[in-house]
Amino acid sequence: MASNKNVLILPGDGIGPEVMTEVRRVMDWMGNQRGVGFEVDEDLVGGCAYEKHGVALADETMDKAQEADAVLLGAVGGPQWDNLDFSLKPERGLLRLRKEMDLYANLRPAIVFDALVEASTLKPEIVEGLDILIIRELTAGVYFGEPRGIEELPDGRRRGVNTQVYYSDEVERVARVAFEMAKLRNNLVTSSEKANVMESGVMWREEVTRLHEAEYKDVELNHMYADNCAMQLVRNPKQFDVIVTDNLFGDMLSDEAAMLTGSLGMLPSASLGATDVTGRRKALYEPVHGSAPDITGQGLANPLACVLSYAMMLRYSFDLGDEADLVETAVNNVLAGGIRTADIMSPGKAKVSTKVMGETIIRELEKLTR
Ligand code: NAD
Ligand code: IPM
Ligand code: MN
Repeated sequence: MASNKNVLILPGDGIGPEVMTEVRRVMDWMGNQRGVGFEVDEDLVGGCAYEKHGVALADETMDKAQEADAVLLGAVGGPQWDNLDFSLKPERGLLRLRKEMDLYANLRPAIVFDALVEASTLKPEIVEGLDILIIRELTAGVYFGEPRGIEELPDGRRRGVNTQVYYSDEVERVARVAFEMAKLRNNLVTSSEKANVMESGVMWREEVTRLHEAEYKDVELNHMYADNCAMQLVRNPKQFDVIVTDNLFGDMLSDEAAMLTGSLGMLPSASLGATDVTGRRKALYEPVHGSAPDITGQGLANPLACVLSYAMMLRYSFDLGDEADLVETAVNNVLAGGIRTADIMSPGKAKVSTKVMGETIIRELEKLTR
């Protein structure tokens, strides 16, 4: 039973707490109506943690995240913290969670709900029925490579440095996740790097090819330069099934993929670690979007990316596929019924606030289970 499982909730900054309030509504409903409740603890990450503790993630919170069966996060960051020392920035809290929990595989599905075909900035025939999965390596690459920093040079100039570093086992383990996921889907992996200009990209391509030859010959594998991949994603996104790529390219390609679905407010994600001997896997679930300071506090935030992240948590951490399906079906039906937050609004639809979207999801869950 799920009731002895612990979930750590980190709403974070900006619209993070706003969207998380709606997720809590759905979680409470699931606990009360379906018996899939969790022991829930809530804590601080990001700018709000900095205000209280002077750091973006307190050690105690880090410990709780390590112990939790799953972590659900809203978003971090905001302009009021932009000028903090680099080590204190809200984003460091999130990066510490990913690194110390070793969450190397970030699954970012981009699915176009039928009702939202019109909300995309692309032509309907390009995005209709789209279902792709971007797997972003999340604990290495230029985000964490050394050396890094800003140096003052004797000649008065400054030098900013970041380093793209990958080890072969880091490539292999994320590629393995991609091949395994592809087997459950349409059996096609596109691996994306810039092997034409980066040695780390050459090594990436060789490692993915080696693993493919050794263990996954039954899965189709393509390689594509990341710049071309960015272009192909808007030209013909349905050519893809699973895309596996590095930390930085994955960050960019997933924001791009979000617009295929209509809004960044629609894209959930799961960040997964390795499965240990007991079968347990550390995991953090978060929407792809950030703290959206431009719309914070106005009831404009779309909570669905976070709600769908919770559905991914049910599926991947707790093996509750039926409940995950239920949440996703509720989202689908609410959208089909013409309910929209501002970011996915189109003519003739009903524009609702963050809170009303959450309430409408609950009503739909009730209808579906009556
Ligand atoms: P952002 O994702 O916060 O916002 C980009 C645009 O998308 C904005 O116009 C915003 O209003 C809109 N948007 C985002 N989520 C939305 C939602 N749920 N509903 C409706 N509209 C939504 O990116 P940004 O503005 O570049 O960054 C703002 C802050 O968030 C920065 O401090 C950044 O570092 C941080 N950030 C955090 C995360 C995270 O916590 N995972 C992710 C990305 C950015
Ligand atoms: C994301 C965000 C983060 C990233 C930031 C907030 C650290 O943009 O999760 O996509 O760059 O990974
Ligand atoms: Mn991003």
